[in-house]
Amino acid sequence: MTKRITTNTFQKMKAANQKISMLTAYDYPTAKLIDESGVDSILVGDSLGSAVLGYEDTTQVTMEDMIHHAKAVTRGARRAMVVVDMPFLSVHLGVEKAVYNAGRLIQEGGGQAVKIEGGTEVTEVIKAITTAGIPVMGHVGLTPQSVHQYGGYFVQGRTTAQAEKLIEDALALEAAGVFSIVLELIPAELAEIVSAKLSVPTIGIGAGLGCDGQVLVVHDLLGLFQGNTPSFVKQYANLSEQMKQAFTEYHNEVQAGEFPAEEHTRRLDPEVYQELLKIVGEKYNI
Ligand code: KIV
Repeated sequence: MTKRITTNTFQKMKAANQKISMLTAYDYPTAKLIDESGVDSILVGDSLGSAVLGYEDTTQVTMEDMIHHAKAVTRGARRAMVVVDMPFLSVHLGVEKAVYNAGRLIQEGGGQAVKIEGGTEVTEVIKAITTAGIPVMGHVGLTPQSVHQYGGYFVQGRTTAQAEKLIEDALALEAAGVFSIVLELIPAELAEIVSAKLSVPTIGIGAGLGCDGQVLVVHDLLGLFQGNTPSFVKQYANLSEQMKQAFTEYHNEVQAGEFPAEEHTRRLDPEVYQELLKIVGEKYNI
């Protein structure tokens, strides 16, 4: 049986100065490919909303959406640790509800951990969830579920006061029991300070090289979006162009009567065919 990457592996990797790789996935085939490629962890991010479901932002993503896609991902991931995002409103309606929701992502979704956006304001919830035996990944810096409060997606922690607040938030999350923290869209110097100060690994996205690991949205990495890609993303492929080309080619070949060709066609045994022709001629007059 394949050995699963766990929160202990994350801790050991930080101690050994070994970088952690993480990618998002929302479906079975992508999760399987990521798992087989050697990437350490898969995030069923609520970026699901914009990447796959066509929502404007992550605030429309529900628990049911997350569970549905977590199920597909966890069927495909045998080795990578699967972390599932707690969506908008699943954390803030009381500790008891938050523990129940986190439990559903593990029990029904099949994930090994959950991720929660926020700083000191979510530490009580984190303590309760970890007490229930569920590992929690924190998430500070740009937290997309608060997009309406920010008024857009901007770099966080640019002023001394903001940077200090972010360091305090990260320390509070660590004290509350998170096994790792995502640092999203913050200056590299700040990410480096936080990563050096924490004993749990940091996973950066738009936060520079100084983090203990990196995460990217898989659609950004593959070039599956036709719109703007954030400047911190490295696009490793341009699949949207390739897909569009394939769809157009298919359409043209169907119209021209070129698909399916002989090699895509199953034929009757000639003897059966002759017999059939006789029958249909006699019986159906065709
Ligand atoms: O939802 C998501 O994909 C995330 C990553 C951007 C870290 O939270």
